[in-house]
Amino acid sequence: MANLSVKFCGVEFTNPTVLASGVVGVTAASWKSVVQNGAGAPTTKSVRLNEHKGHPNPTIITTEHFLMNAVGLPDAGLSKAKEEIDEYLKDKKAPLIVSIAGGKADDYVAIAEEMAKLPIDILEVNISCPNVENEFGRPFACVASDAKTVIKNVKKVAGDKPVVAKLSPNVTDIKEVANACAEGGADGFCAINTLGPGLAINLETRMPILANKVGGISGPAIKPLAVKLVHDVYKTTGLPIIGTGGVTTGEDALEIMMAGATLVGIGSAVYYRGIDVFRKVANEINEWCDKNSVENLSDIIGTVKM
Ligand SMILES: Cc1cc2nc3c(=O)[nH]c(=O)nc-3n(C[C@H](O)[C@H](O)[C@H](O)COP(=O)(O)O)c2cc1C
Repeated sequence: MANLSVKFCGVEFTNPTVLASGVVGVTAASWKSVVQNGAGAPTTKSVRLNEHKGHPNPTIITTEHFLMNAVGLPDAGLSKAKEEIDEYLKDKKAPLIVSIAGGKADDYVAIAEEMAKLPIDILEVNISCPNVENEFGRPFACVASDAKTVIKNVKKVAGDKPVVAKLSPNVTDIKEVANACAEGGADGFCAINTLGPGLAINLETRMPILANKVGGISGPAIKPLAVKLVHDVYKTTGLPIIGTGGVTTGEDALEIMMAGATLVGIGSAVYYRGIDVFRKVANEINEWCDKNSVENLSDIIGTVKM
């Protein structure tokens, strides 16, 4: 059996699989459940300052190749999230990554200030939300200077919590955004958030299937993009990365780690392989390590030859 433990931003994880933000991750019970099912750690759904309703149903399409969602970041707000986080922390069995989101740079700061007071492990800053103060409402993660502002301001109030910037694939040059976040003080990255938006049409009604019309694409189809972008960020910044996007099997996890990821986010695969996907992926990683005489999984990080 290989040693699957990894260290990310100074935090120890028993194995590299983490629940990606937003997928089954709203309550303490759901975070505990993913840990019981083998995850190295859960990431919370992105916490917003105030209650946020999200989009009407249908919000998710599942196909063999991809998932498309327009859940619209539904959230009960900061105070309810804190109750759930307290509940998880009471008998914490694995680190907790808290994802935060906002429409204004100040929202992120207000949430981060509160989170910094709790014994959580990592703050993941979901900068993929539209910047409501920007003339065009473009997501923070799509404008390098906006991304840097958010990360810099969060970092000022985050105390000893590592700050991870969650990057969007919907950019011309992810390296530019990653570098800006690193200049802002990011300790690491999560790459990538959903791709798109995409559109799926019902042939009978000739209408979009999702009530929101368009949605973010995740799942197996985006894996090659995630692997490439993780590699870009790894090479440019050298900072640790939670490689996320289409990881469904142990081989997928190994691939994204070879590209440069230290941790591996798993979201859509919960729909494809069930809640115990974390244990399944960790077992598959172990089998591969045994066959390939790898004793310490962390030795494979960033080892792609190119
Ligand atoms: C239903 C759903 C909800 C999501 N909600 C969030 C969210 O609240 N915050 C966030 O940063 N990412 C969110 N994501 C993006 C995932 O965390 C992840 O980055 C993306 O789905 C790619 O990984 P995957 O292919 O393993 O799902 C969501 C994804 C899905 C499918």
